[in-house]
Amino acid sequence: MAPATNGMESRKAKHIDVCLTEAVDYQTVSTGLERYRLPYNALTQTSLGTIDISAEFLGVRLAAPVLIGAMTGGAELSGVINRNLAAAAQKLGLGMMLGSQRIMLGDDVASTSFAVRDVAPDALLIGNIGLAQLTDDLVPELIEALDKVGANALAVHTNPLQEAMQHRGDTDFSGSAARLRDITRSIRYPVMLKEVGHGIGAAAAAELVDCPIAAVDVAGAGGTSWARVEQYVRYGEIRYPALAEWGIPTAQALQEVRKALPGVQLVASGGIRTGMDAAKALAMGADAVAVARPLLKPAIESTAAVFDWLQNFIAELQICLHGCGAKNLAALRTLPLYAQTDKWAQKCE
Ligand SMILES: Cc1cc2nc3c(=O)[nH]c(=O)nc-3n(C[C@H](O)[C@H](O)[C@H](O)COP(=O)(O)O)c2cc1C
Repeated sequence: MAPATNGMESRKAKHIDVCLTEAVDYQTVSTGLERYRLPYNALTQTSLGTIDISAEFLGVRLAAPVLIGAMTGGAELSGVINRNLAAAAQKLGLGMMLGSQRIMLGDDVASTSFAVRDVAPDALLIGNIGLAQLTDDLVPELIEALDKVGANALAVHTNPLQEAMQHRGDTDFSGSAARLRDITRSIRYPVMLKEVGHGIGAAAAAELVDCPIAAVDVAGAGGTSWARVEQYVRYGEIRYPALAEWGIPTAQALQEVRKALPGVQLVASGGIRTGMDAAKALAMGADAVAVARPLLKPAIESTAAVFDWLQNFIAELQICLHGCGAKNLAALRTLPLYAQTDKWAQKCE
């Protein structure tokens, strides 16, 4: 195995370790979803058993608007993690994003940890690559990697803050928006742009106005902070606390991108932890939600552990729709959401 791949593999293993053992969530910044209330309806006219939360995302029908967030691939444990996540996604009719496939380009050994189609033949499967590494030269190999895993779509992650925290990270993002536009136009996979937990907001969305992007996953602040993860990986401690707490809260990111790109499918992620978080984000205009780090521990354990976590999450989401009188997601989106201020609840436009 090439030394570069070895280095990448050990970094992936460190990411998993740090995400399991250190305090990598934002310490002072929240998603902002807690500031909103769904309108509870004591005279709901729905029956919990018939609430329909099915949705279409990137051309695939999902039983619930829930995606497993991009996590891993390449390290030894990654194969187990990916297969447990994928098998649970298949059983529940959900979607799954793979971790960055850079490590599998030209490496057959690393590729095996991304092979999940045999356990998830029907699940929406989204491949992954970093925008900082996405050059024209890489595109043929990337297409081969997407074909190989049987992906339905490609997620491109943009992560300038994470890269800047890394030892020898890719810190030149000049021309990245133009590169994204070119690749989105030429590649035969639908492309979704995502962050890794620091948020895509108004400024980034403005760069996407004439880009034929299929979806945006805002991956906002309030959950896992990758500027924290990378500091733990690099220094074993937090040396730049302000950078670790920097990002656009998920609720704000979602509203900014929805306004700038009304016709683009949106994923709310970054700190989505409960069915109630999901219900609020969907009411705010998200087409789906994604959850990453809470699924890491269950994914190391078993398919059943991932299944149980997600089933509880989905059950809570269904109760949220029932409790506010929405028989499906379209009805949920017509309901007013209330923003809690110190003194009163204000209707959110
Ligand atoms: C262990 C781990 C590995 C990750 N690796 C990737 C990756 O390879 N590519 C990517 O786009 N995002 C990656 N992410 C970021 C997540 O997809 C997500 O955007 C971020 O963790 C915020 O969501 P959360 O608060 O639900 O964890 C990773 C997250 C975790 C926890």
